[in-house]
Amino acid sequence: MATVSNPKASLGGQGAAPFLQIKQIVKKFDDVFAVDDVSVDIQQGEIFALLGSSGCGKSTLLRMLAGFELPTSGQILLAGQNIVGLAPYERPINMMFQSYALFPHFSVWDNIAFGLRRDGMPKAEMEARVEQMLELVQLKQYAKRKPHQLSGGQQQRVALARSLAKRPKLLLLDEPLGALDAKLRERTQLELVDIIEKVGVTCVMVTHDQEEAMTMATRIGVMSEGKILQIGRPSDIYETPNCRFVADFIGSVNLFKGAVDVDMADHVEITSPECRHYVSHGITGTSGMTVHVAVRPEKMSIQKELPRDDERESAEEVGFNIAQGVIKDLAYLGRLTTYHVKLDDSAAVVKVTHTNAARHDATHLTWGDRVYVWWCGSDVVVLTR
Ligand SMILES: Nc1ncnc2c1ncn2[C@@H]1O[C@H](COP(=O)(O)OP(=O)(O)OP(=O)(O)O)[C@@H](O)[C@H]1O
Ligand SMILES: [Mg+2]
Repeated sequence: MATVSNPKASLGGQGAAPFLQIKQIVKKFDDVFAVDDVSVDIQQGEIFALLGSSGCGKSTLLRMLAGFELPTSGQILLAGQNIVGLAPYERPINMMFQSYALFPHFSVWDNIAFGLRRDGMPKAEMEARVEQMLELVQLKQYAKRKPHQLSGGQQQRVALARSLAKRPKLLLLDEPLGALDAKLRERTQLELVDIIEKVGVTCVMVTHDQEEAMTMATRIGVMSEGKILQIGRPSDIYETPNCRFVADFIGSVNLFKGAVDVDMADHVEITSPECRHYVSHGITGTSGMTVHVAVRPEKMSIQKELPRDDERESAEEVGFNIAQGVIKDLAYLGRLTTYHVKLDDSAAVVKVTHTNAARHDATHLTWGDRVYVWWCGSDVVVLTR
């Protein structure tokens, strides 16, 4: 997964006060906590993604930032000022909605000019601003067209231009690419990041698509049931998830439930029904504790023969981090193949992804093959919740 990082965004660097501070925000609808004690600091120039499945409270949180919804409790500070009491139009914020309704009978030009005209901006200034926005989203030659004469991606860019026309300090995007098909989505993600970075506007976006969050955001907050479970850069969240929900939500993961046998400062040993695990780093846990060992499918190796001891990461790992089973399913995806291996003596099916590089073509594994699956003790994450 490619990550576009914004070099201009300082990720919580010392000194600079956060541009946007969300402090212990709660939103209750009747007795449901739609947003449940969320705190996040966002730096100027960041693209921050709220990621989570449907109904977890993403839009509600964004709507409170925009001022369309009043928090039950908590504070929202923008450049140090508490904005909770301000009406939407009093906030230097613009929100692009989940369904970005452009005015169908207005031209592209008039759609972008709409908010400026309503604010009574002088004509010459307004014209210059609209032209500048058209330039920014590269739609100058489409200015006279109506929305239905544009592709989905182009309409998306008009919506973005309209949101940026008033030069908001904070841009809120709710599922900005929800209406686009997969291929166009991917391209438009990069275009949007490019435009947002060019303008330098701080952005909070909402998505339920993890690849979209990984591609576009400087940092991600993973939400579930109104709470933010983990905040971090895309690579942090992928490589070191802090709980099972995050590990499973971001990408694909194999989880082994087991008990800690040996708990040393530099390594731990864990026994699960599938195998014995050697983890080459310490954990915050204790002997006897139940934990989950998380291993990404691409970190696993697969072959018919038992790997030689010298193929393992270290001598300590021999006899650990290895299981035998049968290939039950395989998905050939061109660039890579995913094998589903049913392990012996357990109900577990592990997923192993193998990059289809020429050097391994000789192995040619298929349905029904008996295989060994193994991995390195430095590639696992031990999850205690
Ligand atoms: N006005 C409302 N009145 C009552 N409950 C609401 C209201 N708005 C949202 N909710 C509830 O709050 C919870 C969070 O909703 P929200 O729209 O924030 O979810 P979401 O994460 O944006 O989901 P999606 O990905 O489907 O857009 C849901 O359980 C929803 O039913
Ligand atoms: Mg929503």
